[in-house]
Amino acid sequence: MAPAVLDPQSNDALTDYTRDLFRRSLPREHGFEPLEVEGRLPDWLAGTLYRNGPGVFDIAGRPYAHPFDGDGVITALRIAGGRAFGAARIVRTPELEAELRAGRIRHGDAAPWLRRLRDAHGGGGKVTANTSVLPWQGRLFALNEGGPAIEMATDDLATMGQSDLDGVVGGNFSAHPHRVAALRTTFNIGLDYGAKTRLTVYALPDDGPARRLHTIELPYAPLIHDFIATQHHLVIFISPLRLNLVRHMLQVGGFDRLFDWCPREGTDVLVMPLADPAAARRFTVEPFFQWHFANAQERGSEIVVDYVRFQDDAPIRELCGADSSRPFQDARCHRAILDPRRGTFRSAAIHDGGCEFPRVHPQVEGQRYARIWLTRGDMGAILALDPESGRIDTYPMAPGQWASEPVFVPRPGAAAGDEADGVVLVLAHDVGRDAGLVLVLDGRNLAAGPLARAWFPGYVTPAFHGHWVQA
Ligand SMILES: [Fe+2]
Repeated sequence: MAPAVLDPQSNDALTDYTRDLFRRSLPREHGFEPLEVEGRLPDWLAGTLYRNGPGVFDIAGRPYAHPFDGDGVITALRIAGGRAFGAARIVRTPELEAELRAGRIRHGDAAPWLRRLRDAHGGGGKVTANTSVLPWQGRLFALNEGGPAIEMATDDLATMGQSDLDGVVGGNFSAHPHRVAALRTTFNIGLDYGAKTRLTVYALPDDGPARRLHTIELPYAPLIHDFIATQHHLVIFISPLRLNLVRHMLQVGGFDRLFDWCPREGTDVLVMPLADPAAARRFTVEPFFQWHFANAQERGSEIVVDYVRFQDDAPIRELCGADSSRPFQDARCHRAILDPRRGTFRSAAIHDGGCEFPRVHPQVEGQRYARIWLTRGDMGAILALDPESGRIDTYPMAPGQWASEPVFVPRPGAAAGDEADGVVLVLAHDVGRDAGLVLVLDGRNLAAGPLARAWFPGYVTPAFHGHWVQA
């Protein structure tokens, strides 16, 4: 029997949804199949929304130990000819296939200790590819910062296998590439641990081969989830999280205790000029933690960076707690203004409310902009924030529905600089139907509610991030 519709503002409802958020595996894989649509899809909307998140949480009923161990599931919404089609496919690596055949967990924190040791020190671990996707030159890659990219087929989401982007990427490849439209180039980083920690920066032009821009050594082993790009610089905030070498070497405990919080070391700000990556500068500021950046822009000698900031590393430990949305309720969207030559940094909240998963119009990454799309910290609303004035527009989710990261899709032909002329796509969960749906919100008027809702036939596993690919 379907559960009763619950009020998303109630703690009972929140707990009901989040309790199983990272424990319930995808019940059915399927390729693109027609979806029920309520309302009217915009005539101009044609393309595919690809999203990724952990979606396999057990092998033969035995649960994984941490949400981040979950194998990636690509959930996709395709709009074609005014109709909606949905697909959900597991990233099927050879390691996962072997686990499924054996009916036993062989990798990750729930694997037998000797296997964990072998994975940690002898290679052979599983690539979960469970965090985001990279559409590039007509290709699609599933990404997780702890491994290489996995190429997926765009037509049926079949897993094609590991990719080094035609011989360019030699190690890990982060899950947060950023495309600077003005440069027609997507940038990404890769962080590799070992005797020395190496941070490698890549450039993926819209046309032509990918290339490695630069590699620097870091004097510690941090956690780096995201970075941000302007037209002239890459900026990385390196929070004072340090890999616990003993725990890593001995493979004891889980991911939530793999890194130590060392606030006395402060957060390092790394600024890398695109024209001369070797001239990167690093300076230390007050300690804080962040998963995600919204955007950045140059302003004279200063760089303005908008990001979602936490006081400390609590969200890492809380993410697999009883209330999985709790980590985001203490997050604040901040604006930092930094001067890499003088080593100055000042940061202040630009919205006094919990929020996460910031996104901007795809044409304004790295340049002046006026709107950040966010999920409210309790996952109960979608927000549009003007970072200059602090003004907020809100779409409160319908009772019993829970939001995820908003993805803005500009209307083809929209005026340059109009960051609201388009739709906001939100993969959501409906408690009453126990099904996934994609909300199509009007970028100019969030509060008016969805223009359309496209319903998946059943439960859809959580997705962290995704991208729209125009048809
Ligand atoms: Fe992320």
